[in-house]
Amino acid sequence: MPSAEQRVVILGTGGTIAGSAARAQDHTGYTAGALTAADLLASVPALAGQALEAESVAQLDSCDMDQATWLALAAAVQRHLARPDVAGVVVTHGTDTLEETAAFIHYTVRATKPVVFTAAMRPATAPSPDGPQNLVDACTVAREPGAQGVLAVLGGLVHAGLGLRKVHGYRVDAFSSGDAGPVAVLEDGRVRRFRDWPTGGDCAAALMKGAARGHTDWPVVDILTSHAGARGALLRAAVAAGAKGVVLAGTGNGSVHRELVAAAHEAIAQGVRVLRASRCQLGGVVGESQSGLPSAGEITAPQARVKLLLELVAAA
Ligand code: SIN
Repeated sequence: MPSAEQRVVILGTGGTIAGSAARAQDHTGYTAGALTAADLLASVPALAGQALEAESVAQLDSCDMDQATWLALAAAVQRHLARPDVAGVVVTHGTDTLEETAAFIHYTVRATKPVVFTAAMRPATAPSPDGPQNLVDACTVAREPGAQGVLAVLGGLVHAGLGLRKVHGYRVDAFSSGDAGPVAVLEDGRVRRFRDWPTGGDCAAALMKGAARGHTDWPVVDILTSHAGARGALLRAAVAAGAKGVVLAGTGNGSVHRELVAAAHEAIAQGVRVLRASRCQLGGVVGESQSGLPSAGEITAPQARVKLLLELVAAA
């Protein structure tokens, strides 16, 4: 069993896990991010007496997540991971864009200790909230000997941050690791691991450059979805509005409507980076396409956007 003596730092960013509703039965009508990280920690009796610290980085509904918060979070994660007394870091986050922030931290922070994202689908005021168990489990994983990398602990599953996707808008079991499957599960407070802990951090230089530029001066990267009747005009408008990168969430195995393909090739000729992902929730893009547009491979469109953004920051 991991020892409760090993210090874990909980970094709060908001979300439903820190949400408060006027009525206990409200699972959707509530204010996300109402509680600070310290409030959240104090509301979970099972964590009392453990060596824990709480720090609020933000109190956002994660649909409003932004680059400034990503930079502040990455700096806080790095600062605490560097402390010899800290076993790992837990990040509490809204479920809606958790996969994007997890990808950002995966790419930018060399996490030789665990960085464990967690969240909740039900607000803290619900009769049966999922947040307290998720927080307890996340702290367990943050202390797990040998664990490392960016992870997400939700509903008793330990996912790698890269590859994570939210696949349901309401149910408590809202997340999937896609084809890779979870890294581990929690059973009676113990971690049973199925595959290697993730490694990342290969865009650390982009983080330094991005921080030096400040959060307002990063290249614009947009996501556009392909669908029946898709219009190239939207992609041309994105480029005219300053997009330096575009991720196309294609149909099926990343196929893209011919109108968007034509506009994408025009954009590439103007120096815009274009990547083809899939709008399907599970799986990614396999092989090449006759469209000639580069593939994002197995990562989802939202995570491909984060990677492309960091590549453009590094190159600028
Ligand atoms: C959010 O993403 O901040 C709100 C929704 C949630 O956490 O489930």
